[in-house]
Amino acid sequence: MTARPRVHFAPRAGWINDPHGLTWYDGRYHLFFQHVPDSLEWRQDIHWGHATSTDLLHWEEQPVALRPSDDEAGCWSGAVVVGEDGTPRIIYTSAREENLGLGKVRVARPQDPSLTSWVHGNVLATAQRDDTDVFRDPMIFRDGDRWRMIVGHGNRDGVGGAEVFSSDDLDSWTYDGLLATRSHEEKNPWTGTAWECPQLARLGDSDVLVVSAWEEGTTHHVVAAHGMYADGRFSADRWQQITAAPGHYAASAFVDAEGRQCLIFWIRGIRDGDQWAGVISVPYVVSVDDRIRLTPHPSVEKARRVDDRPGTALDIEWSPTGDGTLRLVGDSQVAELELRDGQLRLAVAGGAEPVVVDHTGPTVRIVVDGPVLEVVADGGLVGLQVATGDGVVPETDAPGRLDWWHLT
Ligand code: FRU
Repeated sequence: MTARPRVHFAPRAGWINDPHGLTWYDGRYHLFFQHVPDSLEWRQDIHWGHATSTDLLHWEEQPVALRPSDDEAGCWSGAVVVGEDGTPRIIYTSAREENLGLGKVRVARPQDPSLTSWVHGNVLATAQRDDTDVFRDPMIFRDGDRWRMIVGHGNRDGVGGAEVFSSDDLDSWTYDGLLATRSHEEKNPWTGTAWECPQLARLGDSDVLVVSAWEEGTTHHVVAAHGMYADGRFSADRWQQITAAPGHYAASAFVDAEGRQCLIFWIRGIRDGDQWAGVISVPYVVSVDDRIRLTPHPSVEKARRVDDRPGTALDIEWSPTGDGTLRLVGDSQVAELELRDGQLRLAVAGGAEPVVVDHTGPTVRIVVDGPVLEVVADGGLVGLQVATGDGVVPETDAPGRLDWWHLT
């Protein structure tokens, strides 16, 4: 039996992947996610699970929101948008048996104000280009006097991209072409042969496009571009990888109750043996300076409590002024983070292969939560499974500061 995470969402039972549609509505956050309640593996007939929270950290799982209808193979990823009438809608990928790669964008409407049960509506959009072989994962935002929808795309030549549609009423949609594209031949950073879950975070002065880079047979990661969005087109001035394999994937953008642009991720590879598989990351606030930065949401700091005993849920700020190692130690050593020459090497006991990621910034932020280890490094977020047992404490031999708190 693995300890349940305290400040990360994990399902009661079964499989989860992508988070989506995170929306502040009627005094609480609603999180939806890809969910197969009766399996520990992904299946194409996936559902939309649902959870609610007032602080983005402590989640209450709700009944499944959306199940595939008779004419669809699965309810794949998408978005929630609150229309001008104040009512949320799910706009999602209706996967079809005849071609799983080419989804149809479909709407579903809530049957009650608590958003517990939903009914399927019309198909709103389909792939419009002859060369498209991946079309899925709509995301919607307000653009001046209309709505825009971007949809993940990949073509037969291995060019990933996002398609754009616009609408006045969220019901009828017009095709506007391609938002942005990038070939898989551009390796640095690698953006895959198709983009899953494209997301646009609008920061005011500039914009950030976030895509989950997919290619058959590879370990996928999340890549973001800084640039400018205008009139259905995004022009990138620089790209960067924001997650380091094998954990975080399928980022989903949302705006919190205070108006911050945030991202939340699926963390792969974390499971409780025979109960559940997959967790959702803590939320991150997006900002830009010389690069795109992700900072754990202020709600994580609010959950801190000073306590120097071992704990299973800790928030750690490690600010070494030279090379050295941080260890998470309980009855035995659970994890080791070694910082040397601008690189951080993470190793967990009895677990996955060590991960090496660039890091030259002043602080490494580490959130430990039952089986979840999340590390914020310059080269990207790292998520690994750890065995915290009855509790761990951080210890370091590096010069500099080490501050840590329990998370309640
Ligand atoms: C990303 C993804 C999406 C798809 C969903 C299916 O992890 O592959 O592109 O809609 O998961 O569960």
